[in-house]
Amino acid sequence: MQLRNAALATVFALLLAATELAAAESCQYCHRSMTNNKTVHAAIHMGCRLCHDKLDVSKVPHLNKGPFPKGLRAEVPALCISCHEQALFEGNRVHAPVNTGMCLECHDPHGSNYPGLLKMKPASLCLNCHPDIENSAHLVQGISSNGHPLGNTKKDIEDPKRPGKTFYCASCHEPHRSTLPKLTRYGVGMTSCQTCHQM
Ligand code: HEC
Ligand code: HEC
Ligand code: HEC
Ligand code: HEC
Ligand code: HEC
Ligand code: HEC
Ligand code: HEC
Repeated sequence: MQLRNAALATVFALLLAATELAAAESCQYCHRSMTNNKTVHAAIHMGCRLCHDKLDVSKVPHLNKGPFPKGLRAEVPALCISCHEQALFEGNRVHAPVNTGMCLECHDPHGSNYPGLLKMKPASLCLNCHPDIENSAHLVQGISSNGHPLGNTKKDIEDPKRPGKTFYCASCHEPHRSTLPKLTRYGVGMTSCQTCHQM
């Protein structure tokens, strides 16, 4: 009985040492906040090294053994497009910040408390770069003196065409590229209104 307990204790101690080692090796041991958000980028579950493969983390500060910042395998947007279909970001009508590869202006590569890994509340993100839109009666001059709802109020409305998603700028606009003018999803003419309204 004594012997068995001793053996168990040894096994337990070895296991503990192994876990501690694994934890120290694992990036989250020191970078816990990276995975604390409501949504975590699915790529994170495949391991930090998938993107940060040129980093020697045996020392702090770490040693970057590669040509790209933060020990990244490739630069953004090439890094993103190594997993995400390039066709989603190209065409005749591409949104300017997408065209210049500024994925990180809008997305956090690790996680976010907002949908789509966005860096802030969706409508605020768009309005940050398009502040004039809020004060213009967007589209509906003569129909509504307040302008069309834009999704920038406290109360969320559901997108009638995309169940489960909140109504905001991207309910009418594609964020990356579109085949239609002004990055619209349904076009710019009055018939496009009928996508959501009976008029
Ligand atoms: C022992 C704790 C510890 C471990 C383990 C650790 N890090 Fe870090 N890491 C730090 C600290 C502290 C900093 C900030 C130091 C600095 O900016 O110079 C940092 C900074 C970084 C940076 C930013 C570097 C820069 O140039 O700004 C990246 C990227 C990073 N870590 C990735 C990782 C990855 C990936 C792993 C796992 C493979 C990892 N870390 C494991 C403590 C750790
Ligand atoms: C999908 C690719 C990807 C994965 C997976 C990934 N990172 Fe990053 N990480 C990036 C990019 C891109 C940046 C540069 C962000 C910037 O410049 O704003 C970055 C920056 C960082 C930084 C610098 C501080 C910051 O927030 O900019 C740290 C620390 C870091 N990553 C740690 C980690 C850890 C820890 C993991 C695993 C839990 C991880 N990363 C997984 C792409 C990734
Ligand atoms: C190692 C592969 C990999 C890399 C690199 C990668 N992603 Fe992802 N990403 C995924 C997977 C897997 C998903 C989940 C499936 C999907 O939505 O396509 C995802 C989902 C996303 C989503 C949707 C999240 C949601 O909740 O709707 C965004 C946004 C995103 N990635 C942006 C980026 C950006 C920006 C970069 C570059 C900094 C990047 N990804 C690099 C694999 C990757
Ligand atoms: C101007 C801001 C902006 C930029 C720049 C941007 N995105 Fe997005 N992205 C969004 C928004 C907004 C959504 C969510 C759209 C929605 O509500 O359905 C999104 C969604 C996504 C998704 C989820 C799938 C999809 O198509 O809806 C992926 C993956 C993604 N972005 C990757 C990227 C990559 C990679 C880059 C850089 C090449 C990039 N994004 C640049 C705003 C942006
Ligand atoms: C980082 C800044 C930035 C962010 C964030 C941003 N945009 Fe833009 N957007 C631009 C720039 C720059 C242009 C080109 C300006 C011009 O041509 O006058 C543009 C142009 C546009 C256009 C006009 C396209 C055309 O063909 O004329 C629309 C529509 C648009 N953005 C919608 C959005 C929406 C919706 C969002 C949020 C998902 C958003 N933008 C977020 C910078 C941004
Ligand atoms: C109900 C649908 C709808 C919503 C919601 C919407 N837009 Fe638009 N937006 C349009 C249409 C349609 C056009 C094209 C109008 C035209 O050319 O006559 C447009 C045009 C634009 C333009 C180009 C303006 C120009 O003068 O070229 C920008 C930038 C823009 N929208 C940004 C936004 C932003 C930012 C939001 C959210 C705060 C938003 N839109 C919400 C439908 C919408
Ligand atoms: C993607 C769907 C969508 C499209 C396209 C769309 N709308 Fe709307 N519209 C909405 C939603 C959602 C509301 C808010 C309904 C609510 O408050 O319950 C709304 C509200 C309105 C209102 C009431 C505004 C107020 O102050 O109460 C008017 C008027 C309107 N839309 C006109 C238009 C016109 C004109 C077009 C075309 C140029 C258009 N809409 C295109 C979804 C859309």
